[in-house]
Amino acid sequence: MSRRLNLEPAAPGNVDDLARLVADDHVRRYLLDGQRYDRAWTLDRVADSDRLRATHGVGLDLAYAHSGDLVGFTGFLVTDDTGAPMLLYALFAHHAGLGLATEMARASLASAHHLAAIAADVDAVNTHSVRILEKLGFARVRIAHGAFGPMPIYRLALPCELTTPRTLLRPFRLTDVDDALAYRNDAELARYLPHIPIPFMRADAAAFVAENVADSWTTDPTFAIVHAGRVVGTINLEVELEARTAMLGYTLARSLWGQGIVTEAARAVLAWAARAHALELVWAATHRGNIASQRVLAKLGFTPAGTATRDELRFELRLRDAAQV
Ligand SMILES: CC(C)(COP(=O)(O)OP(=O)(O)OC[C@H]1O[C@@H](n2cnc3c(N)ncnc32)[C@H](O)[C@@H]1OP(=O)(O)O)[C@@H](O)C(=O)NCCC(=O)NCCS
Repeated sequence: MSRRLNLEPAAPGNVDDLARLVADDHVRRYLLDGQRYDRAWTLDRVADSDRLRATHGVGLDLAYAHSGDLVGFTGFLVTDDTGAPMLLYALFAHHAGLGLATEMARASLASAHHLAAIAADVDAVNTHSVRILEKLGFARVRIAHGAFGPMPIYRLALPCELTTPRTLLRPFRLTDVDDALAYRNDAELARYLPHIPIPFMRADAAAFVAENVADSWTTDPTFAIVHAGRVVGTINLEVELEARTAMLGYTLARSLWGQGIVTEAARAVLAWAARAHALELVWAATHRGNIASQRVLAKLGFTPAGTATRDELRFELRLRDAAQV
């Protein structure tokens, strides 16, 4: 159900509606590379949808206007090579241009909130569909070659909360400014982090929180570390989707240092990122003098990998053989 649409799971009972959509020229053009398919093929897709619902809790839905008119379909049938369900949507041409595809796709993403990530691909010439994916926050992984030329491959990590024995890890909220100001206005915290201005003023805290809220959750997720009800630090990643690598960063309020809190929180974020992006390698750079940070990395299983800059050491963690994460 969305504002203008009712969504009904694809099922043998509505397969004729799905077959009507599959036979429509507008729907077939990009989604099915112009091919024609019969009712038996359509029933097989209903079976695909059922299988995906059993394994991933998402499937294909038919979309009807509140009047009962068939509008299109939206949802998921298959997964990509990383196991992420692939979003697809289509509507009859006479329903195009009203924002209904975006509305349908949003409803499908809401149904996938329990998953770490969603994949999608779209022919570059299908500019409306490219626009929809970008509006929904999908980030481009790479450009493949499809039946109509360049075909960008997209990925979306779904915002989530993680819990560890002592912390809650969640996306930043605009109401976190006071907490951010309280722990970040600390010269000792900023000693090896030249991007933190000292003194750290309220405007700096507001800009820091706004940036974390606005950043792509897919390529630049920053988890707020919440401890005893207050935001006390960050675990952030910068993800290179195509390379399946990410940079790890972290900070914690000085009053909580030395209790293993960042190690505990980073371990949970790495496990999430490994699932969301099928990451193969995570790296971090830390100042030679930042012994506490090097100790965190060692506890997480990172190993030395040379120098990052003159003053910084580089550490890497290969996730494929990292049973410890
Ligand atoms: C680095 C930082 C995130 C560590 O957070 P934390 O929750 O205290 O980390 P942990 O408690 O999990 O681990 C810290 C380890 O360093 C050790 N340590 C801390 N200071 C040390 C020092 N001067 N010499 C030797 N070991 C030290 C601690 O004993 C602990 O190791 P242990 O578990 O073996 O006892 C925190 O100090 C911080 O926010 N620093 C400022 C921001 C920063 O530098 N971020 C990293 C940038 S690369």
